[in-house]
Amino acid sequence: MLSKRHPQLNKNGELIHLLSIEGLPKAVIEHILDTASTFVSVSDRDVKKVPLLRGKSVFNLFFENSTRTRTTFEIAAKRLSADVLNLDIARSSTAKGETLLDTVANLSAMHADMFVVRHSESGAPYLIAQHCAPHVHVVNAGDGRHSHPTQGLLDMYTIRHYKRDFTQLSVAIVGDILHSRVARSDIHALSTLGVPDIRAVGPKTLVPGDLREMGVRVCHDLEEGIRGCDVVIMLRLQNERMSGALLPSSGEYFQRYGLTEERLQLAKPDAIVMHPGPINRGVEIDSAVADGPHSVILPQVSFGIAVRMAVMAILAGNEA
Ligand code: CP
Repeated sequence: MLSKRHPQLNKNGELIHLLSIEGLPKAVIEHILDTASTFVSVSDRDVKKVPLLRGKSVFNLFFENSTRTRTTFEIAAKRLSADVLNLDIARSSTAKGETLLDTVANLSAMHADMFVVRHSESGAPYLIAQHCAPHVHVVNAGDGRHSHPTQGLLDMYTIRHYKRDFTQLSVAIVGDILHSRVARSDIHALSTLGVPDIRAVGPKTLVPGDLREMGVRVCHDLEEGIRGCDVVIMLRLQNERMSGALLPSSGEYFQRYGLTEERLQLAKPDAIVMHPGPINRGVEIDSAVADGPHSVILPQVSFGIAVRMAVMAILAGNEA
């Protein structure tokens, strides 16, 4: 049975599932980042493989669309020498009404060792972790608005790569924070790693006021929000999660919150611009910024492979 307090850690404090960044000790986050740094060079080798997950079966269960996360999890598992199975949800028996837990029970009967799960319902990976056998590990690849822990971790890897010391940084997260599991994961990770100045920037309708209780500075003016920042993390408007009119129009949004080269000059001269993707050019970010010298959006994607390798390798080495 999973501990309620630390559902992803065993009694020794080791990671057995990755469900959320919330509640992860700083030492565990740093161990993942350090382990990831040892895997970056695997992608540069002629034979891009290490044997750590040889004989293990990793099942990718993506109940929501994905380009970056699903693909980099598959690449990461293959680089660890695992057998990888991608369930095609649209053609699976989910369409005939099979429940999530019955689907997982049947895949477990096929000797799954690890499930990588993306789901529109917050808590779906936790539910699976509660019901699977003790030797099976679960990785949350994004659940509802709740959490996207490997995106948070690869964002931290990227920030550490370019900025080194978290304890001196100003980081602005800009856009649709209300619906963003990435924002939530980033805020927990930045806070745990000691970032002293975390800002949440966006319209009142898209920035929850209770972030202030987490020590986050809430700001509704973009220019004020990114002034003097070391890192600017831009977010997509998640129209698929919005009910009702939270915004006037995407054109008007760009006028007030779109990141342009001119506005970026308010950040530090060596500021980096991040985005979890997919980007909407001309809505939250101008192409000149997305493709410009401050952008580290594509390096984020590459680092995602090493970070996901690290998470899977660590999980596979720990027992419930
Ligand atoms: N960042 C991210 O989760 O992208 P995908 O939806 O393409 O996986």
